Amino acid sequence: MRMYDIIEKKRDGHKLSKEEIRFFVDGYTNGSIPDYQVSALLMAIFFRDMTEEERAELTTAMVESGDQIDLSAISGIKVDKHSTGGVGDTTTLILAPLVASAGAPVAKMSGRGLGHTGGTIDKLEAVPGFNAEIASDAFINLVNQNKVAVVGQTGNLTPADKKLYGLRDVTATVNSIPLIASSIMSKKIASGTDAIVLDVKTGAGAFMKELDDARDLARAMVSIGNRVGRQTTAIISDMSQPLGNAVGNALEVKEAIETLQGRGPEDLTELCLELGSHMMVLANKADTLDSAREHLTENLNNGKAIEQFKLFLESQGGDSRVADDPGLLPQASQTIELPAKKSGTISEIVADDIGTAAMMLGAGRATKDSAIDLSVGIVLNKKVGDFVNKGESLLSIHANTTAVDDVKEKLYASINITDEAVAKPPLIYENVQNE
Ligand code: URA
Ligand code: CA
Repeated sequence: MRMYDIIEKKRDGHKLSKEEIRFFVDGYTNGSIPDYQVSALLMAIFFRDMTEEERAELTTAMVESGDQIDLSAISGIKVDKHSTGGVGDTTTLILAPLVASAGAPVAKMSGRGLGHTGGTIDKLEAVPGFNAEIASDAFINLVNQNKVAVVGQTGNLTPADKKLYGLRDVTATVNSIPLIASSIMSKKIASGTDAIVLDVKTGAGAFMKELDDARDLARAMVSIGNRVGRQTTAIISDMSQPLGNAVGNALEVKEAIETLQGRGPEDLTELCLELGSHMMVLANKADTLDSAREHLTENLNNGKAIEQFKLFLESQGGDSRVADDPGLLPQASQTIELPAKKSGTISEIVADDIGTAAMMLGAGRATKDSAIDLSVGIVLNKKVGDFVNKGESLLSIHANTTAVDDVKEKLYASINITDEAVAKPPLIYENVQNE
């Protein structure tokens, strides 16, 4: 088999065989096929697309390029959730203990963040003592005991994806549905989950700005998951404005605690109930989405969800007293309000720009090795569709400096106030199921 022929075949719009896909993924991973040939193939895929079968084969080849986590020692159906990015997305912190409190095992492997705010592990490390560096047998024991554990990424998972993603980044081939879908799904599948609930974001703060593109990506991932034997379902949700009110690591932990106590922001709570219901059904812990939602709602209100969160924190060395006293989380030295310059209705809060402002405060990483400030961030006091009076606070800036003029400028530019009435944007657009 020759790489030249594979490139030519895809260039001319033909379907690659399983063996051809295997050949280029393995060859690229082990270094026997050079960057320039893989670059050409990626560009051919970008223009010619892949069939559902090719996408599934590509995913499997990437999964098998490295280690695969074996979660079979955990009893029950393990369901994982994946969000395609976004700003201030606190759902994992809430869903893991919430779904566990209703009986579904959650064995979550999570990463550190790049950009806007930290990843789930960074956020959890805002809890004093919390440790995500646990060995795999200890991790499995924890899930069997407590129904939930969150561990940092270990092992050599999907090296083919790492290499391909790096190459796509410099060859203008990131934004391709078959390549994005196989990249995301390969990582989920390698991490050992039995079933997957996807939260595909759309809107200004998302990778897929348009609903049609988000739908295509959701369908592509659902198809791959089901073809490789992992039940997969997706919802498409709004990321035109930040989810919930808090953007920043410790601030999001506090918001997660409030949500687990049944007093979180409406949109964040609703999205968690929707995603959690799908997880419960896939885990065979509920017969219908409605009964799942009822159970989860009960646990937010009767204390079971927050108790599960405390148990989870303690089992990984974290100080569970933060649930009763969020003052134990890292606190910024300054809280600075951003007053509205005029009265009117909020028509826009550009999620991306709020994320960038949080990063300017130190909440996110500019590069892989930069340090993050867990205490800083932004708390929205108004959302799209809310009325605001001139001088009223739009949001609170939590900073460790008073020199925040550039951040304020960025924030003012990202929030639009109008004299017209503005409807609240929909939160959930649709559910994409296997066809
Ligand atoms: N996220 C991924 O993991 N892979 C992509 O290709 C795009 C976004
Ligand atoms: Ca949030």
